[in-house]
Amino acid sequence: MTSENIRNFVIIAHVDHGKSTLADRFLEITGTIEARRMKAQYLDQLDLERERGITIKMAPVRMSYKIDGKTYEMNLIDTPGHSDFHYEVSRALAAVEGAVLLVDATQGVQAQTLANFRDAQLMGLKVVGAVNKIDIFEDKNDNRLQTAIRDIAELLNVPKSEIFLVSGKTGAGAKELLEAVIKNVPPPQNLENAGIIPQALIFDSFYDNHKGVVASVRVFNGAISESDTINLIATATRSKIKEIGFFTPKLKAAANIMPGEIGYIATGIKDPEKIKIGDTVVVVKKEDENDVEKFALAGYSVPKPVVFVSFYPEESDDYEGLRNGLQKLKLNDSALSIEPDQNEVLGRGYKVGFLGRLHFEITSERLKREFEIPTVNTFPSVLYKVKMKKLPGRPTGGWIEIVKPEELPQEYEEIWEPIINIEIIVAEKYVASLYPLQNTFRMRNITTHSYHERIKVTAQMPLVELVSDFDDRLKSMTEGYASFSYELADYEKADVLRVDVVVAGDLVPGLSRFFPKATAEKEARIVVERLKEFLPHQQFTQSLQAVVQGKVIAREDIPAMKKQLGNFGKNGGDRTRKMKLWKKQARGKKRLKERGGAKISPEVFKELLKR
Ligand code: GTP
Repeated sequence: MTSENIRNFVIIAHVDHGKSTLADRFLEITGTIEARRMKAQYLDQLDLERERGITIKMAPVRMSYKIDGKTYEMNLIDTPGHSDFHYEVSRALAAVEGAVLLVDATQGVQAQTLANFRDAQLMGLKVVGAVNKIDIFEDKNDNRLQTAIRDIAELLNVPKSEIFLVSGKTGAGAKELLEAVIKNVPPPQNLENAGIIPQALIFDSFYDNHKGVVASVRVFNGAISESDTINLIATATRSKIKEIGFFTPKLKAAANIMPGEIGYIATGIKDPEKIKIGDTVVVVKKEDENDVEKFALAGYSVPKPVVFVSFYPEESDDYEGLRNGLQKLKLNDSALSIEPDQNEVLGRGYKVGFLGRLHFEITSERLKREFEIPTVNTFPSVLYKVKMKKLPGRPTGGWIEIVKPEELPQEYEEIWEPIINIEIIVAEKYVASLYPLQNTFRMRNITTHSYHERIKVTAQMPLVELVSDFDDRLKSMTEGYASFSYELADYEKADVLRVDVVVAGDLVPGLSRFFPKATAEKEARIVVERLKEFLPHQQFTQSLQAVVQGKVIAREDIPAMKKQLGNFGKNGGDRTRKMKLWKKQARGKKRLKERGGAKISPEVFKELLKR
């Protein structure tokens, strides 16, 4: 296939606007997937994606389409829509020349539509606009449909006639859109002359037990062949290729990946640390391998994590398993940041940085499912800066950074927290419903601007508020008709207290949190009440306390399990059975203590995050 007949493109959109469903129609039209094997959102290959109905991972697939006697190779990358997975989108954008920007006609242009469009523009991609879900409208002059068409046309700065009307559900307009991609998206500009050093960008990777680390690549120059030996520039690694090929979306082996194509290289490398996303694969002779840096492609900037959680294996001998699991997950999710961590009670673990709360939830679920490692984790937190007190041995005070409230030193001067600028797009009739959120989530400097028939609200708020259930609340207050995007703005002095949770006399590591002074007592009460609901009953009564600097500010008791000792018949039962049960209770208590009071499951953390 010559570059001239290749089209590389992504589908980008706000969450749930129908990317994966439209991709299904493309797979059908091009005969990539037989009709009998088709299932909805085919490219969502993870069980978790299918269960939750959200795309987490970008998914490349090669399709073939014939028009006017010419056969085109179409490399499509389906992308996630939720802002927590935005890094997946940005990496996909760097591997292609064009994008279909899809807007759900019932929702119109939303926050991630704008964010994704801006990025596609910055990357210099050709963007084709389309309005989706037109099957919902019987009347093609429906106001919502017409508004969506006008908004996207204005955004792209093209006439309304250039916006495609499609339905991923019925397939209407999908063929025309695919043909427009061929017509409008430029073919890749690659060098394929003899003597060119083959160069490919690694935009994704995953681990395969037989093939080792498999890198998803976009070849920029030269062709890579199955018999080649590759060099990975960032880690100075040389390896003989095990297998090479493309995505159907399953792996399909081939003899070569040609310039301009998207495919995969099974490296045979077993150490996940050797493969870095954004690194360049080159094919050079052994004698030239010391001078390969000059062939490095631009790569990606590493995203900054904003939410931090420490994970500890439930069984301490699972530490190696946890490390291995996290490293393999990182191969497939390069937005994760991982560093070793230590806790007095929970032992050795890892502090992991995420791009948001959903990213954390999904990762802990993947860890459990894909690697079968049950973990205990700390409360999701953000990076605080602490101004230290001037002490005799520390005359300048200075600053430290902490993510766990437990790390707060006894003596300190001030705590500073990250602040974000948030932009919310909402239908006018729901603007009033935003006001109750203002106090709950400490929003301020709220301004409103009219945005077509909607309102764009900008505000500032502490990042930690976003980690709680801000998005769920926003959705429910506006019946789903609001979306938001945000960026980190600055750090600001925070008037907060550290609240610890003590269960059965033991501080529970991972449950300490900072709360604003003004509401700390109220929040602490909610925490112990919720915990009482969610913590399992033991065979003894457990006290539940919220404590600030040694002072109890809220308290509840979890009563002992109903099925108590004693139901041993009229005569009090037989003594040996009683003794056995007493021993079991004592063991339960000891084990509970060893594990730091109580095991808090991710579900309980999620419940505690709700306001
Ligand atoms: P994320 O990747 O998670 O952001 O979602 P997505 O953009 O890939 O959306 P997806 O294809 O998963 O569709 C979201 C929902 O919209 C699903 O319930 C689909 O069945 C529905 N949907 C998608 N396309 C259409 C359409 O053309 N018409 C109608 N009526 N519903 C659609």
